[in-house]
Amino acid sequence: MRTGTNERPGHPIALVIGGGGMGMSTARRLGQSHRVVLASQSAAANVAREASLREDGIDAVAVECDITDRASVAELQAFVAARGPLRTLAHVAALSPSVGTWRELLEVNLVGAALMEEACLELAGQGTAAVFVSSTAGHLADAPAADVVAVLDDPLAPDLAGRLEAVWDEHTSISAYRLSKYALMRMCRMRAGAWGAKGARIVSMSPGPIATPMGARELEGPSRDIKLGLMAQLPLAREGTMVESADAIEFLSSDRASYITGTDLLVDGGMVAATRPR
Ligand SMILES: NC(=O)c1ccc[n+]([C@@H]2O[C@H](COP(=O)([O-])OP(=O)(O)OC[C@H]3O[C@@H](n4cnc5c(N)ncnc54)[C@H](OP(=O)(O)O)[C@@H]3O)[C@@H](O)[C@H]2O)c1
Repeated sequence: MRTGTNERPGHPIALVIGGGGMGMSTARRLGQSHRVVLASQSAAANVAREASLREDGIDAVAVECDITDRASVAELQAFVAARGPLRTLAHVAALSPSVGTWRELLEVNLVGAALMEEACLELAGQGTAAVFVSSTAGHLADAPAADVVAVLDDPLAPDLAGRLEAVWDEHTSISAYRLSKYALMRMCRMRAGAWGAKGARIVSMSPGPIATPMGARELEGPSRDIKLGLMAQLPLAREGTMVESADAIEFLSSDRASYITGTDLLVDGGMVAATRPR
């Protein structure tokens, strides 16, 4: 018997993309039942992230990956494949409106997510589940016109931002955030067939305001008034916690959700219900 070790060779692999607030809480939650590969852009921050997860007794390794870079995603794909079959993908990484431009947000939030979807579908097998973190921002605006949707539905064709600029006038980071999160939900719906053909599932999860460092930053940025206005109408009258969003991701990825695919789960304290009643 080996004692005093974090290694859990019997656990399946979870790949968590993004080492921010929600990514780390998701890694902690999935780490109860998985070996975790945490992939995030900042190599320096990853050292402390890996140490923190391992201090919690989790079998975790943190690796550098830029999800907008095909070569970097391919390297991550090979790293995960060498460790064993992929059971769970939690794609959490994104840029919020206050930390990037229109172009940067489209690249990270949509092109990066699509590259990861493509890479992980190759690793998927019977029982694999992928959860992509979207946002209520993708639910709150009216659906864009058909020509805009056609561009959003094809994120891996060259120059997504340029193609969108030809059909969409508002080139702000807030607009890129909304469009990218809307498109991410559509991607999960449209890709359900391809994942299902492998016995695998793909879903999105749309948080409302969650108390993370990113959430706090947005209350100081250009989305402040929009966000405060929406929060004033929240039926549950509070922000969500990182544990609540991690629990939802864990549920969606688990076998308890084995008939759920190609759809989105709102974890938003009722924000969409209150502000867009149908
Ligand atoms: N917090 C909220 O209120 C809220 C509400 C709705 C939706 N969401 C969504 O929830 C998710 C997580 O939010 P959060 O609050 O945890 O955000 P966060 O703390 O800002 O974390 C985002 C992470 O994405 C990573 N990232 C950015 N660009 C990347 C790239 N090119 N390649 C790889 N990783 C990259 C960053 O990595 P490094 O740190 O390594 O650079 C960062 O740690 C996001 O999808 C966000 O849109 C959040």
